[in-house]
Amino acid sequence: MTPPRLRLTGVAKAFGPTRALRSVSLEVAPGEVHVLIGENGAGKSTLMKILSGAHAPDAGELALDGQPYAPTGPTDARARGVAMIYQELTLAPHLTAQENILLGSESARFGWLDAKTSRERARAALAQLGHDHLDLDRPAASFSIAEQQIIEIARVLLQPPRVLIMDEPTSSLTPVDVEKLFAVITRLRATGVSIIYISHFLEECRRIGDRYTVLKDGETAGTGHLAEATINHLVALMTGREVKDLYPRLAHTPGATVLDVKAVGLPRFTGPAGSSAGRASRPTSFQLRAGEILGIAGLIGAGRTDLARAIFGLDEATAGEVLVVGAPAARTTPRARWQSGVGFLSENRKEEGLMLVQPLADNLTFTKLGAFGRFGWISRRRQHAAATRWIGELEVKCRDAAQPVVELSGGNQQKIALARLLEHPARILLLDEPTRGIDVGSKAQIYRLIGDLAASGKAVLVISSYLPELLGLCDTLAVMHRGELSAVRPCAAWTEAEIMRTATGSA
Ligand SMILES: Nc1ncnc2c1ncn2[C@@H]1O[C@H](COP(=O)(O)OP(=O)(O)OP(=O)(O)O)[C@@H](O)[C@H]1O
Ligand SMILES: [Mg+2]
Repeated sequence: MTPPRLRLTGVAKAFGPTRALRSVSLEVAPGEVHVLIGENGAGKSTLMKILSGAHAPDAGELALDGQPYAPTGPTDARARGVAMIYQELTLAPHLTAQENILLGSESARFGWLDAKTSRERARAALAQLGHDHLDLDRPAASFSIAEQQIIEIARVLLQPPRVLIMDEPTSSLTPVDVEKLFAVITRLRATGVSIIYISHFLEECRRIGDRYTVLKDGETAGTGHLAEATINHLVALMTGREVKDLYPRLAHTPGATVLDVKAVGLPRFTGPAGSSAGRASRPTSFQLRAGEILGIAGLIGAGRTDLARAIFGLDEATAGEVLVVGAPAARTTPRARWQSGVGFLSENRKEEGLMLVQPLADNLTFTKLGAFGRFGWISRRRQHAAATRWIGELEVKCRDAAQPVVELSGGNQQKIALARLLEHPARILLLDEPTRGIDVGSKAQIYRLIGDLAASGKAVLVISSYLPELLGLCDTLAVMHRGELSAVRPCAAWTEAEIMRTATGSA
């Protein structure tokens, strides 16, 4: 009998006092898509980092095609055919898209191929994902998170591995890109590549996966065939309880307009050079009311983040104005916005958000903006109390409030980023992908929190690529397409199909 492609037995790993993995066993067959699920902090990324050579296990055995497997590092793992797409994007920010894609590939290392061939290979890898239009010469940091994710995946496709680990590859992809990624996965699977797929989107897991393993608190909580598992069963294995109400609705009624976006022009869509639309798009106008949750759907690069950034003053609008009702017409800098009660949760928690090496308590009570004086001095006791409250409310998995954020799992870092924004008094909240990387149970918790905020009169704008979330959470919804925002309509007046047609411009 042929051995499984991969066999892990009794794998354990501790970080100081934190036992990330207690004892995990897992088997993956050649040509299988094995789904790995579990709550934030369950140990998924840690297990995969052991496979990819980034961490050494404390105990346990690993075998690859029947041979003992103990990679000395990521390069060794890659040479043996194990590749990983990390949850925290790892692109070199100042290198171009092309350089990033070719980084570490044989052709680049040994200079086998000329520049033209290298370019064609990079372009071909992107084409598999339906993004061959991406500008290969732009630095990685200038792309949106979703585009960076595409570049990251393209890098691996250059040299298909024996085992491909994908840690939340779709956390910021839109439905259209998820389909393209699934087509690639299906092709790879057919050639015998084994894929380990981590995601918090259980519907997605059921579609693409053959078998699953559930991790809970560093241990295997269950395994089986996805065809025989209901979503409820998977959730129960993950959380140890039933999550009945995924989209809790709290009664709230929109009131007076608090944010008036008047004919705003977005730089990327109106500038003569580099305009993605190829023509100037219509300026954006809409109003946000107190107690309203407005959702914005759209494809990658449609301009949703551009809009939020323009409202918050991070980028200067090329036309029009954004009025915060009740605030003086201040300069449109982030600081001025912040002071007039606007809060912004960036999709990029690494670059603009968290201070990763600082304790999470500090992260909760300081922001790059908040530290501007208003919160210049904060009592340690108050800080500790606030941190402890949020850790409880959002079920953040950590040792205590003094733990550095960098040691938290991806989803728990996201919870801190959100908590930090909510800790500050803002009347208007701009949330860009607020539940990115957050597990099913905690998502429900966050929806309840957002509902609470709306009920207390706050105005909330939610950008999300996850349609069920937008439809379940929001009162009103608009769709962005190439820098143009559709009319805002009540959620009930939209269907998923209609949103997709508007997003793709085929409406
Ligand atoms: N470098 C580190 N130092 C200290 N603790 C760590 C480190 N890396 C991970 N941990 C801890 O190990 C546990 C498991 O984290 P891991 O990142 O594997 O979770 P995960 O299942 O991938 O969660 P998520 O769904 O949020 O990505 C967490 O409690 C985390 O805080
Ligand atoms: Mg993780």
